[in-house]
Amino acid sequence: MDFNQSYRSFVLAIAQNKGIKNLVLTRGRNFARRFIAGDTLEEALRVVEALERDRIHAILDLLGEMVTSEAEARKFQGEIVRLVQAFGALPYPRYVALKLTQLGLDLSEDLAFALMQEILAEAHKVDCFVRIDMEDSPRVEATLRVYKRLREAGFDNTGLVLQSYLKRTEQDLQDLIPLRTPVRIVKGAYKEPPEVAFQDKRMVDAQFMVLCKKALENGLYTAIASHDPQIIQEMKRWTAEKGIGRERFEFQLLYGVRRDEQKKLAAEGYTVRAYVPYGTDWYPYFSRRIAERPENLLFVARSLIQG
Ligand code: FDA
Repeated sequence: MDFNQSYRSFVLAIAQNKGIKNLVLTRGRNFARRFIAGDTLEEALRVVEALERDRIHAILDLLGEMVTSEAEARKFQGEIVRLVQAFGALPYPRYVALKLTQLGLDLSEDLAFALMQEILAEAHKVDCFVRIDMEDSPRVEATLRVYKRLREAGFDNTGLVLQSYLKRTEQDLQDLIPLRTPVRIVKGAYKEPPEVAFQDKRMVDAQFMVLCKKALENGLYTAIASHDPQIIQEMKRWTAEKGIGRERFEFQLLYGVRRDEQKKLAAEGYTVRAYVPYGTDWYPYFSRRIAERPENLLFVARSLIQG
């Protein structure tokens, strides 16, 4: 296992500790605001306006995952519908992201499917795209099944995320080609064992490129979701060399990460979207951001000490 993997495993493991969680929730809030638009939908919509001034479009994500009751899943669904409607009133491209465990995937696939259908119907009315984020490996199979059922039911305003650290992903991509699935390629943010995931960062990076190129060569609309300068550079070079038009792909980055690069890409004429999370359930998302970069852990430690 290389340093990056060990570091990520370490952070994601200590993030489970209740004492650490309470400390971060009470004292790490200010630092967390670097990655999170705010607690409310209204705050998130203000961030959308600000990004649009730099020609960056937003992907709004109401934070929440792994619900343990149907009531909770329905509550999230209601809030996501409210999000879609409010976004629909703005004169910008509409795009939201969600997680199926936020809609009760762990309780029942039928429940997540039913709640998704209502969200997609509402989103269709305001021309809103709904990205299904990909969660940890035990949920990949169920996520793919729900997505395929939604497509069979006639919804085409949705797409999936594929993680380059998973050994299974190349085959998953192959299976999604006939459905013309809009894909977002990411490296993957969870703690995964060597049986299912590459542990060597170089392998994960190389695989990222393989997947993006394969998706584009097969005509899938592809979101290249990475902050990695080498990946961004190579994908710009390769798409230009292959004559792949800029209308066939876009770059996606996280709100609060490499803001200058986001502006630069947009100024160069690429479609750029920033993933903008909001809501009070920010701890799991925040832990994954810390796990991606050792420097972030130092910032958190400092804000915990300073309060
Ligand atoms: P890498 O981690 O190699 O970072 C490259 C460089 O980017 C770093 O050197 C640093 O400069 C900068 N950087 C990266 N992360 C940073 C951070 N947290 N803070 C500050 N700087 C940082 N994952 C998943 O499993 N399921 C999903 O659905 C999604 N969805 C998603 C959407 C979007 C729009 C993005 C950009 C990412 C995701 N991810 C995700 C997360 C993804 O899997 C991955 O963990 C992060 O993007 C970090 O990987 P990079 O590709 O940026 O490269």
